[in-house]
Amino acid sequence: MSRVNPPLPPPDPVAAERPPAGRPSAPRAKRRRATLLMLGLAAVLLAAVATFWTAQVLAGREASAGYEAALQRWETPSEEAARATELAGAIADFDEELDGARTLSEVLPEALAGTESKAALAAAVTSGAEARDALGETGAEGARLPPHAVAPESVDGLRKATAAIEAALASRERAQRNAEESLRTVTQQRETLAAAADAARSALVAGAATQAEPLTSASPEALQALADASNAASTSPLPGAAAAAAALVAALDKVRAEHDAAVAAAEQKTAERVRSAATADDPASITVVVNKQRPFNPIDWEPGDLRTPAGIPNTNGQPVRGEAATALESMYAEASAAGLPFTITSAYRSYAYQTSLFDSYVARDGLAAAETYSARAGYSEHQTGLTVDLDDGSGCTLESCFGETATGQWLRANASRFGYILRYDAGQEPIVGFIYEPWHFRYVGAAVSEDMRSRGIVNLEDYFGLPPAPTY
Ligand code: DAL
Ligand code: ZN
Repeated sequence: MSRVNPPLPPPDPVAAERPPAGRPSAPRAKRRRATLLMLGLAAVLLAAVATFWTAQVLAGREASAGYEAALQRWETPSEEAARATELAGAIADFDEELDGARTLSEVLPEALAGTESKAALAAAVTSGAEARDALGETGAEGARLPPHAVAPESVDGLRKATAAIEAALASRERAQRNAEESLRTVTQQRETLAAAADAARSALVAGAATQAEPLTSASPEALQALADASNAASTSPLPGAAAAAAALVAALDKVRAEHDAAVAAAEQKTAERVRSAATADDPASITVVVNKQRPFNPIDWEPGDLRTPAGIPNTNGQPVRGEAATALESMYAEASAAGLPFTITSAYRSYAYQTSLFDSYVARDGLAAAETYSARAGYSEHQTGLTVDLDDGSGCTLESCFGETATGQWLRANASRFGYILRYDAGQEPIVGFIYEPWHFRYVGAAVSEDMRSRGIVNLEDYFGLPPAPTY
């Protein structure tokens, strides 16, 4: 069989220009290369992005884990946190003790507690307060909250937050160590405070006991309350010590007030008894009142128990009544011991002796003048046997200047203790009828003389409620 070849197609003008078959033409190869390049670049880019994001994710996870770990370390109850709680408790306890000690030092009266004890307690309070402030500051630093304010929104933020937490943790630990050091100081202060408070309380209790010792006239209830308050003040713990001390002071005040009131009432009764027992009319009574309105009855009355005081210089050798002599001897002994011995220039004068004495003064100075300083016979206190004129040899015999001598001053201040009164004091002439005679002392007995002194009464007329006796 024969094959017939098809006719050849007409020549293709374009194809005529194509490269020979089996070899691509030049433009197509270019395009393919460009495409491949693009694809390669894209792949590299994708790989880079993927690598970047992977790294980012890993770093983020790591930072986040670090942050979480740091946060957990902060928030997990730690040894430091436990110690911080303990510290806060110690601060609270110490605050209470400090307050108690401060109040205690304020309520303690110096007279009772003793200045030294009180000062020591005040010093301990001051130094305790300083130590406590230091502890409070470091304690507060240690208890500071973590810096959560650093927002962990990004990897960088997480790292910053982690670093801040770590720094805060380190700071808290440092503060904790400082606080522990302060706590040691405060513990020592606490011991100092307790010792000072104990000393002050002991002094207070001892002082109250000493002061209460003579206050026996208070009621049994008040004395028992004082004893109970003393016990409470001795044993109460520091925070309650101030209240116990104040209660003790109040109990002592009550005892003192009751005692004073009881003593005053007793003195009042004694004085009333003395006054009612005393008689101004009986010439034999040691409280007889003789003045220009009150002559002796009988006019020439004489005491029966005269004697010369022993051991006292006595110009005229005149005696006094026994009781007055004994008291005068005691007064002389004490005045001599004080370096102020005195002389008796006149004592008992009989009616007859006073008559001649008064007459001699009238002859010398005239009646009107004599009557200002000398009594008529039967009206002179010297007739009682209870009166003495004293002198110290300094040139003021029977002169008002005797009142300014050391002896005159001593007698004025001390005579009442021996039962004597300065009978004619300055300014009393309108009542007693005679001028100031600082040398003339009258024995009335110590009950009356001390009562007069305590009441500020300076003449017998006022003491017995008798009328003034300026003239006869
Ligand atoms: N000198 C006094 C007043 C008398 O004579 O008793
Ligand atoms: Zn006299």
